[in-house]
Amino acid sequence: MLIAQMSDLHVTAPGTAPTTAYDTNARLAAAVAHLNALVPRPDLVLITGDLVNGPKPGEYEALSALLEPLAIPFRVLPGNHDDRAELRRTFAGTGWMPMDGPFLHHAVEAFPVRILMLDSVVPGSAVGGLCADRLTWLAERLAEQPERPTMLALHHPPFDTGLAFLDTLRCLEGAEELGRLVRSRPNVRAVLCGHTHRQTAVAWNGAHGYVAPSVAYQIALDLAPEPPYRWTEEPSALALHQFRPDGTVVTHLSVIGDYPGREFSRKARNS
Ligand SMILES: [Fe+2]
Repeated sequence: MLIAQMSDLHVTAPGTAPTTAYDTNARLAAAVAHLNALVPRPDLVLITGDLVNGPKPGEYEALSALLEPLAIPFRVLPGNHDDRAELRRTFAGTGWMPMDGPFLHHAVEAFPVRILMLDSVVPGSAVGGLCADRLTWLAERLAEQPERPTMLALHHPPFDTGLAFLDTLRCLEGAEELGRLVRSRPNVRAVLCGHTHRQTAVAWNGAHGYVAPSVAYQIALDLAPEPPYRWTEEPSALALHQFRPDGTVVTHLSVIGDYPGREFSRKARNS
């Protein structure tokens, strides 16, 4: 099974002033075309939060129009820039968007690997949270199918990323409790996140911890203790997670853009 992960789209309403130097809507359009052209085509696309940049009027309509050409089933979860009510309104009728209750978490059951989409949003805060209610929901879902390979997806990374300016913010309240839960469930194969706009991979409590790059723009890699906040000209990208029959998860970075290949001979390949 091949799962694509797009994160941090930061769609803006047409005609509004951009908050960055990047045309995030054009980048999402390019990402959708990129996904549709992949061979093999992914079975599922996970969009791990910050679908829009505001939220501001018109953004979710723009998001809807930009996702309309996507020819692959997809699921979304909210980030700190999103609005739950707007997400419900935008994806009402899909059959998978939870229309009741305080949170948007839900389970994706139709594939060889089970995926639990977690809602880590605390309205009005950039920091996420998994409160007792949300951790209980997760514990109950994990108890339902303790042997089945499972992935968790949430916007806020529960682990340190090595990026000092983000780690000092502490991305997610409830991270330790989530870590204990993951450690107690060896069938949890991966924890997929967004939020930091920079790809990071980490071994975390026995699972493959991963932060996807942003489709909209990347934050500079700077491992100094007190780095400046910088966006970079690095290209947008998404992740491709191969879930293999033996339960391993292999993650590839798929850079969006035109980077022509050059074939090389078998002789060179063997050298
Ligand atoms: Fe973001």
